[in-house]
Amino acid sequence: MTAQLIDGKAIAQKVREEVAAKVAQRTAAGKPQPVLATVLVGDRPDSAAYVASKGKACQELGMGSVSEHLPADATQGQVEELVKRLNADARISGILVQLPMPKQIDEERVLSLINIEKDVDGFSPINIGRLAQKGRDPLFVPCTPYGCIYLLEQAGVQIEGANAVVLGRSNIVGMPAALLLISRNATVTVCHSRTRDLPAVVRQADILIAAIGRTEMVRGDWIKPGAAVIDVGINSVPDATKKSGHRLVGDVNFNEAKEVAGCITPVPGGVGPMTIAMLMKNTLRAVEIQHG
Ligand code: GUN
Repeated sequence: MTAQLIDGKAIAQKVREEVAAKVAQRTAAGKPQPVLATVLVGDRPDSAAYVASKGKACQELGMGSVSEHLPADATQGQVEELVKRLNADARISGILVQLPMPKQIDEERVLSLINIEKDVDGFSPINIGRLAQKGRDPLFVPCTPYGCIYLLEQAGVQIEGANAVVLGRSNIVGMPAALLLISRNATVTVCHSRTRDLPAVVRQADILIAAIGRTEMVRGDWIKPGAAVIDVGINSVPDATKKSGHRLVGDVNFNEAKEVAGCITPVPGGVGPMTIAMLMKNTLRAVEIQHG
């Protein structure tokens, strides 16, 4: 292995400790505690597990959490009423609406209702719009892309002037990651399923963020020697040697890429733990914006 391993688990732990220390300071000074409200609509087991981990993280860091759950057949009106109630509740610092929501719910309308000072996921059109505009700062940046940039910074990767390639253009990861890289003065190419000669485009990348959800799609010979590789993919593949019968792999073929890259995140233990760590950082920021 020639690449430096970017240890997301350790970096996330450090972020969590910093947040916990600041929360403890606030509490000792009699200031309001950060409280995260999560909204889960429906019964997707993956969404339920994510929301549960977010609540658990709040508890571990000394923050409060409120978990709201609506049934899979909830109406648009019910979801909107819930968001409005959480907006109006001064004890709630941050609101996180877990995505995706059931088909009958207009996600854009729901996200646009979240008070931007409580939009700890950074998905409200105002926060995303500000991220996309020069000289305008969002109050919050989406947690997974924020974690990707944080990992690059911690690994000492120079973003300014770098050629960055983002694989994937989702609202949750690819697009905000591209906008963040642009705001840090990288030259950014966003690739997707219709990009021509993908390996050739990826070979230009000093920084690669892979968030396309395709098992080990990026091969070692696609990587520019010395590149920084951030793998957002979490794909489950069968593995008879594991008790669970499966294991998690990324969008990048790690064994090949680690021989070429300058630094690389593993899966698991790379970007994964950063999402909740950055959500905790955003929730602390929310209470600071609202109450000082
Ligand atoms: N679904 C998948 N990732 C995320 C995320 O970061 N936030 C929310 N709200 N939903 C998600």
